[in-house]
Amino acid sequence: MTDSRTPRILMCPPDYFGIEYEINPWMSVRKGADPERSKAQWKALHQTLVDLGVEIDLMAPVKGLPDLVFTANAGLVFKDLFIPSKFRYKVRQGETERFEEWARGRGFQIVEQPEGVNFEGAGDALFCGEALFGGYRLRSDVQSHQWIGERLDVEVLPMELIDPRFYHLDTCFCPLAPGVAIYYPGAFDEYGLSVIADRIPTRIEVRAEEAVYFSCNAVVVGSNVVLHQGAPRLAADLERIGFKPHALDFSEFIKSGGSAKCLTLRIDGEEAAAWKST
Ligand code: ARG
Repeated sequence: MTDSRTPRILMCPPDYFGIEYEINPWMSVRKGADPERSKAQWKALHQTLVDLGVEIDLMAPVKGLPDLVFTANAGLVFKDLFIPSKFRYKVRQGETERFEEWARGRGFQIVEQPEGVNFEGAGDALFCGEALFGGYRLRSDVQSHQWIGERLDVEVLPMELIDPRFYHLDTCFCPLAPGVAIYYPGAFDEYGLSVIADRIPTRIEVRAEEAVYFSCNAVVVGSNVVLHQGAPRLAADLERIGFKPHALDFSEFIKSGGSAKCLTLRIDGEEAAAWKST
């Protein structure tokens, strides 16, 4: 039974997922993803989320849009508003109309940004408490976050991303609850680090050797954290502050520069978003 507290997540099956172009340092068309393994890994994530009580909304996969599986990049959800992405690279721009179609069908009011700015949705825009943390430079433009802040009347904290391997904010920063987050310091400049230190009282620092396993790219459901395997220190740190890690294999999606979190879009608001409970 769905009630207002049932967590809801959008996913898209990986039927047409693959490495067909190179738009981040992880992608190499010569190192393709294994279709069967991709499907099994995606199914394991789906099942884990269902077991955690999540209601999954499914988008139809589309041939020729191999990155449509990364629904975190659909747009930004805020209450009953949906701000669609404006992808930096042409190869992903065809996804936008599919995501908009989904959002319209779900009863969201679509809020379009002005033309000419790049914005890659929840991949680069994450609430922690009242504030919206906005990753920019490598994919989204800082202007997009400023525009969103004004339109939604929320405080925006722009975070410059300085390491091309961590090109979306959700690859290096993961809010767990208001005032609680995991992050990889090497992805931010001094200013970004000072904002995190200032605004997030409970911080878990991820080491470089675990960050490269996309450890920050985690799906949070209540006190459960689903993430890629290979980060034992982070798992121990999460347990220490009362979270339960669920480690799965996302090797095929990492070849595309994505992991657990990228494969999901929280429809009812991320756990850490203060507006959820108002
Ligand atoms: N291949 C995709 C891209 O480069 C991966 C997207 C990962 N998504 C994310 N939210 N980090 O655009």
